[in-house]
Amino acid sequence: MTRYQNIQRHLSENQYCWLITGVAGFIGSNLLETLLKLNQRVIGLDNFSTGYQYNLDQVESLVGAAAWANFSFLKGDIRHLEDCNKACQNVDLVLHQAALGSVPRSIEDPILTHENNISGFLNMLVASRNASVKRFVYAASSSTYGDHPDLPKVESVIGQPLSPYAVTKYANELYANVFTRCYGTESIGLRYFNVFGPRQDPNGAYAAVIPQWIAALIKNKTLYINGDGETSRDFCFIDNVVQANLLAALADDSESVNQIYNVALSERTTLNQLYEMMRSILIERFPHLRDHRPEYVAFREGDVRHSQASIIKAQDLLGFEPTHPIDDGLKHAMDWYTANLS
Ligand SMILES: NC(=O)c1ccc[n+]([C@@H]2O[C@H](COP(=O)([O-])OP(=O)(O)OC[C@H]3O[C@@H](n4cnc5c(N)ncnc54)[C@H](O)[C@@H]3O)[C@@H](O)[C@H]2O)c1
Repeated sequence: MTRYQNIQRHLSENQYCWLITGVAGFIGSNLLETLLKLNQRVIGLDNFSTGYQYNLDQVESLVGAAAWANFSFLKGDIRHLEDCNKACQNVDLVLHQAALGSVPRSIEDPILTHENNISGFLNMLVASRNASVKRFVYAASSSTYGDHPDLPKVESVIGQPLSPYAVTKYANELYANVFTRCYGTESIGLRYFNVFGPRQDPNGAYAAVIPQWIAALIKNKTLYINGDGETSRDFCFIDNVVQANLLAALADDSESVNQIYNVALSERTTLNQLYEMMRSILIERFPHLRDHRPEYVAFREGDVRHSQASIIKAQDLLGFEPTHPIDDGLKHAMDWYTANLS
């Protein structure tokens, strides 16, 4: 039995109270779905800035009425300490996901990103400390590796940040660390690498590459590749990320707590390879894709050229064992987008 299977069994027999911030977003709503299916009590906080009520509605229909009764939603903003204090009441475990994602957005509006991602984060740490929550697990980011050229990325070696977004995510790690030293707050930061899967938003200027491309392919629209397509990423299906969060929240040996972990597959896929994988999965359902070709445009400011994680630390200390390789994850994601977009 894997560590994750043990934890799932433990959770189905023991009920905790969880707070998920950013619960109406992509990763938050997937955490919610898994926890409710495991009979957990969940409080969700969101201000709907980039999340949607329809994500919550979909989780409700997937988990059924009995499990949904274990969920309570607070519309609120992590930039307001009183909202954070209210949300943290009687909470055992926090999964802090709320933030403004996107490197380009942070370059366009660094103050807004700072307010949400640093001031909001600090409020959540203070509220978690005030409420004596058992553990604070938070969404860190691979952007923290910045301009450091080494591959694969190991947690202890980072470079200079390349965007305001990256600064905010690194600041989160510094604050979490200081809260451990000053107040004894237990935390674990998960540096996500390009997560994808159901309910990731395909719309808007700041959409992530996979949902944006799926939408373009399904609708036979122009699909843009930034640069020459040889930029590479460690794409990680959402179920692996959910697993990492649950392992982090319930890790019980002191060595594994107050740490940062990469969450990815430790693989590298170029944008050109990704495009071909996606097109070949969808081509059976959408014959128009036989003639589809991408359009190459300029490189994007603030983007790192290559990214690949070492996941040895998460494997060794958390028992992380990704269950979904990229092709399998892409198939799940395509099924969902085909059902929900077309
Ligand atoms: N998706 C990825 O590939 C990826 C990679 C690295 C890190 N992350 C981090 O993971 C977390 C979740 O990302 P996601 O992809 O689910 O994004 P998302 O935009 O789908 O979800 C973020 C959620 O947070 C909410 N939110 C934002 N600001 C808020 C505020 N001030 N108060 C309350 N709620 C607020 C949004 O409304 C949204 O529902 C973020 O912290 C992000 O930086 C994501």
